[in-house]
Amino acid sequence: MGQSVLTPSGFSRTESGELVCEGVSLEAIADAVGTPTYVYSTRAIRDQYDALDKVLAPVPHRLHYSMKANSNLAVLRLLQERGAGVDIVSGGELYRAQQAGFSADSLVFSGVGKSPLELAEALSAGILMFNVESLFELDQLNEVAGEMGLRAPVALRVNPEVKVDTPHHYTRTGERGNKFGIPFDEAVDAARRALALPNIALRGLDMHIGSQIFQLEPYRDGLVRLLDLYDQMQAIGATEIRCLDIGGGFAVSYDDEQPMDLDALAGALLPMVARSGLSLIVEPGRHIVGNAGVLLARVMHRKKAGAKEYIITDAGMNDLVRPSHYDAYHAIEAVHARDGRSIVDVVGPVCESGDFFALDRAVENVDAGDLIVVRTTGAYGYVMSFNYNSRPRVAEVLVDGSRFAVVTRRESYEDLVRLEPQHLEWRTT
Ligand code: LLP
Repeated sequence: MGQSVLTPSGFSRTESGELVCEGVSLEAIADAVGTPTYVYSTRAIRDQYDALDKVLAPVPHRLHYSMKANSNLAVLRLLQERGAGVDIVSGGELYRAQQAGFSADSLVFSGVGKSPLELAEALSAGILMFNVESLFELDQLNEVAGEMGLRAPVALRVNPEVKVDTPHHYTRTGERGNKFGIPFDEAVDAARRALALPNIALRGLDMHIGSQIFQLEPYRDGLVRLLDLYDQMQAIGATEIRCLDIGGGFAVSYDDEQPMDLDALAGALLPMVARSGLSLIVEPGRHIVGNAGVLLARVMHRKKAGAKEYIITDAGMNDLVRPSHYDAYHAIEAVHARDGRSIVDVVGPVCESGDFFALDRAVENVDAGDLIVVRTTGAYGYVMSFNYNSRPRVAEVLVDGSRFAVVTRRESYEDLVRLEPQHLEWRTT
């Protein structure tokens, strides 16, 4: 990988070489809030959202932000104000979306395993659509809706079974045999079943083929296959289908890669969507928030061991798991630019050899006490963090122009044990 050329709109360097977020010094944030801390740029999030919205403007559409990428309430509110809908995957996300002020009819509910309770919660909330992934789910939803005297609006999530390339196989979902979606050749039967069920209203067709996808071909091929199914479903009486959901997955740049070319994507897809007369839903997560965030951390010390040199930071794999879980590349920079580089491993304090952010990487010569950022961590950063080693979860900060706010406070030691009773209430069956 080359040296990072990332230039998201929210981050820049001052003349003295200090990395700042919009008009706020990262050092000032570290002083006020401590480290590690996730820092997000309002401007970067807005710009990404607006750019995608504009590209899709030729067809009736809605962006349903995939909130699993970053579900902080302040981030959600920012997108709600811009007119976004949300893609949820759990009862907890439904709750958060509602807390953030999203109306129920702006929510689509994806996910390969929704519990009867989650189905009932979303039904009584009155969400726009359930993206149903199996015949079992269809029957279950029909039953729950019947008990509630409701008709459930449904899109069938179909696996288009196209060739998908992503940096890690964990994030491919649109190839034959993946666990997600209804297998392609069972989709028309699923529609037939949906039409026969009294409490199901078949309103859409859906796919989500993976995450961090650079090529437009899998979207194009997937859409062609979805539209083919649409024709077949119309022929068997599915007259209520109104929308096409093509999922998320649009790539961002973590290093010097070109991000997804949205104009080219729109050029390939929108004419087909327009011809179908259906409205378009997209479910981007990473594309909206990925480059809008950094993980701000402090170097604790440097250490040599054998032929290796380590930079040990106060952030660990529990705060950002992507490098160790997906072998993901994240650019690392000093907040105050440092001269010279050396080949090091950048690691955290967690008692695991898999606790790293970079291996054998040429990193600026930072020293104990220096601040660094791990870039492109606005998506799948904080939301995937955990408490291993009884490490409190870190703080999140949102920057807006020359001001910043703590949007998640750092956990305390008390928080670590607050769900565990001091005195046990033993029960017998
Ligand atoms: N829609 C559905 C149904 C999804 O499952 C996902 C992501 C998205 C939309 C949004 O995908 P995006 O636009 O963010 O690529 N933790 C992994 C990524 C997992 C993605 C899971 N599904 C990572 O850190 O790379």
